[in-house]
Amino acid sequence: MKYFLIIAVAITSFNTMSAQAQDATAGETVFKRQCAICHAVVQGKNMIGPSLFGIVGRKAGTVPNFRYSAANRDSGITWDTAQLDPYLTNPKAVIPGTIMAYVGQKDAQQRADLIAYLETLK
Ligand code: HEC
Repeated sequence: MKYFLIIAVAITSFNTMSAQAQDATAGETVFKRQCAICHAVVQGKNMIGPSLFGIVGRKAGTVPNFRYSAANRDSGITWDTAQLDPYLTNPKAVIPGTIMAYVGQKDAQQRADLIAYLETLK
């Protein structure tokens, strides 16, 4: 029992120390707080925003039956992790004219976690 506790403490502190790594579970929490009001993660379910199922690697503006702005639809972007990072920092800077009313996540760790979570949606 004593050894088990020591190991548990060691694992816990290791997780804290490796805070730079992306954490999809933490990202899911960020998603629920900041994105889920407008985005579903289920395929084909559009809300105020398009479904984010399969978003990583997807071409922008291609979810069927969602009325995108011309700016988003014609952006020519493919949503890989490198493109999602600046977009989620400040959507309007990457797609001027987007109708996504989200100010952006300025915290790099929270964005990394969020993107790690988005990668699981497939
Ligand atoms: C207030 C509602 C709202 C919130 C909050 C919001 N979005 Fe959006 N999102 C939209 C809308 C609307 C669009 C479509 C934009 C357009 O057509 O210009 C969109 C588009 C997107 C796209 C591009 C999708 C595509 O198929 O091209 C991504 C990626 C995205 N949102 C991710 C997120 C993430 C991640 C969050 C949370 C950090 C978030 N959004 C928060 C409404 C929202």
